[in-house]
Amino acid sequence: MAGRPRARGRGGPGPRRPRAAPRRLPLNPRRPDAQALVAAAGLEAQPTRVPGAFEATAGRPADLAEDGTLFLQDRGSQLVARLAAVPGLVLDACAAPGGKALLIADVLAERGTVIASEASRRRLATLARLSHRWGAPNLRLVAGDAGRAPFRPAFDCALRTRRAAGWARSPDTPDIRWRCRPEDLPRHAERQRRLLEGLAGLVRPGGLLVYATCSLEPEETHGVVGPFLDAHPGFVVAPLPEWAAPFAEGRFVAVRPECHGGDGFFAAPLRRRA
Ligand SMILES: C[S@@+](CC[C@H](N)C(=O)[O-])C[C@H]1O[C@@H](n2cnc3c(N)ncnc32)[C@H](O)[C@@H]1O
Repeated sequence: MAGRPRARGRGGPGPRRPRAAPRRLPLNPRRPDAQALVAAAGLEAQPTRVPGAFEATAGRPADLAEDGTLFLQDRGSQLVARLAAVPGLVLDACAAPGGKALLIADVLAERGTVIASEASRRRLATLARLSHRWGAPNLRLVAGDAGRAPFRPAFDCALRTRRAAGWARSPDTPDIRWRCRPEDLPRHAERQRRLLEGLAGLVRPGGLLVYATCSLEPEETHGVVGPFLDAHPGFVVAPLPEWAAPFAEGRFVAVRPECHGGDGFFAAPLRRRA
């Protein structure tokens, strides 16, 4: 099987075609005219369960994204951001292009500050442009490897969403969907584990560590969280909030393209014992 593309998500390219994903649009809370602009652009936007987020069922939102009225974000990405929106000091450790950091900053508003760290200079520049356009006053950008950042263990929440080998994309991007090779998974899973280890030390006692990945492969989901919990008895799985119930799989969140539409996501909220 070596070298053969591996199916993303559970079940691979079977006969069930995933549902098309409605586009999700967090609106800029600093634009009081955002709703009116959305309506004038012919967008039909319905509120979703995620605070501040809307779902477009018709229209073309790209122009409004360009001028900072809204940004386009997948459903799974919004779920993960909402899980990490803990009042206080939040670290988004793998932040660019920045959708989650922006949403967390807006959900928290005056209740918290988001530190968005990014290892790639090029991607940090993209994040800086987006952040400038969006204008969230409680978002700070930091360049560098989050696992080696000189932070104290002071974060109320640390989120990491490093890109995965088993990227569970929707059928809108089938080329990416089938590009994963089984032999890449252990290497990626090892990187996921190392970064999670690094972040664990930055969470304050009683704080939250959210491990999220856009992979649904066991090696990068339970295969990372299980050994982490075994090796860190100071962390336990935190209960999921009520609004996440439709996406719960056991104690974790799994957004599955074939069930929920959009890209796949796995998320595990882990609480450091006080
Ligand atoms: C999947 S993307 C994150 C998407 C982002 N959270 C969002 O919502 O837009 C992963 C990002 O993590 C960055 N990254 C990977 N390893 C990192 C590390 N050790 N420290 C900081 N950033 C890292 C990559 O350069 C990439 O930009």
